[in-house]
Amino acid sequence: MSDQSGEFAGLAALVTGGASGIGLATARLLAGRGARVAVLDRVKADDEGAGLYPVLADVTDDAAVRAAVAEAGRALGRLDIVVNNAGTGAAGTVEDNDDAEWHRVLDVNVLGIVRTTRAALPLLRQAARERGQAAVVNTCSVAAVAGLPQRALYSATKGAVYALTLAMAGPRTGITSRENITGPQKHQGSHPGRSPAHDQTSAQRHGRHNPDPPRSNGTPSARVTHDAAAT
Ligand SMILES: NC(=O)c1ccc[n+]([C@@H]2O[C@H](COP(=O)([O-])OP(=O)(O)OC[C@H]3O[C@@H](n4cnc5c(N)ncnc54)[C@H](O)[C@@H]3O)[C@@H](O)[C@H]2O)c1
Repeated sequence: MSDQSGEFAGLAALVTGGASGIGLATARLLAGRGARVAVLDRVKADDEGAGLYPVLADVTDDAAVRAAVAEAGRALGRLDIVVNNAGTGAAGTVEDNDDAEWHRVLDVNVLGIVRTTRAALPLLRQAARERGQAAVVNTCSVAAVAGLPQRALYSATKGAVYALTLAMAGPRTGITSRENITGPQKHQGSHPGRSPAHDQTSAQRHGRHNPDPPRSNGTPSARVTHDAAAT
């Protein structure tokens, strides 16, 4: 149920990887707080009446992403928020994955963000001109900075997401950095090879402060990661 007096009322958002897990929860939350929301995913979300607008695309396909972003912009009438959330997991040490797997996971987790943001920036800049701000949110992970030996490839992709997010900000893109990195933790998504027990042990080993503590029911937080505003 959309709340027309909610904090996102009047805004339009696109969430990639929004058909399940953290992306679907984020899309529902934005819609529940008043936003019109399109979900870009390879599969259609079961949105349980949340009114999400599906745009089918694979983030590894640049032409499909451009078409899907344009369709979302037309359907929603504008685009104020892009949540780059589509991602895939990979288990194994640096020895365990071949080149094809490295290319596949980097293509989804890193280039997927590049393609979607590139396609959406004209609409975000237009929204920023009209309302003074627009936002790009990239879902990162504590793997970006923790160094998880059993997740060499996944960690490398999230490290790249972290650096990319910082690098996206600047006068040439018109994007300014607004918030530091945090990460969803211990969400029971469908990533292969995930070991929450390992993550927790690793977090303790590295003495990390978790700014976004996991919820016992697996509900992800609304705060995803680095938040950059297109101005
Ligand atoms: N689950 C966790 O504990 C956790 C922790 C830290 C970060 N993350 C990150 O959060 C994000 C979401 O994770 P999740 O656990 O909800 O995963 P999930 O597997 O439940 O959902 C991922 C969604 O992305 C979509 N997707 C995957 N590849 C795609 C592609 N090529 N094109 C379009 N859509 C694609 C899937 O169809 C799915 O709907 C990912 O970026 C992940 O790396 C998750």
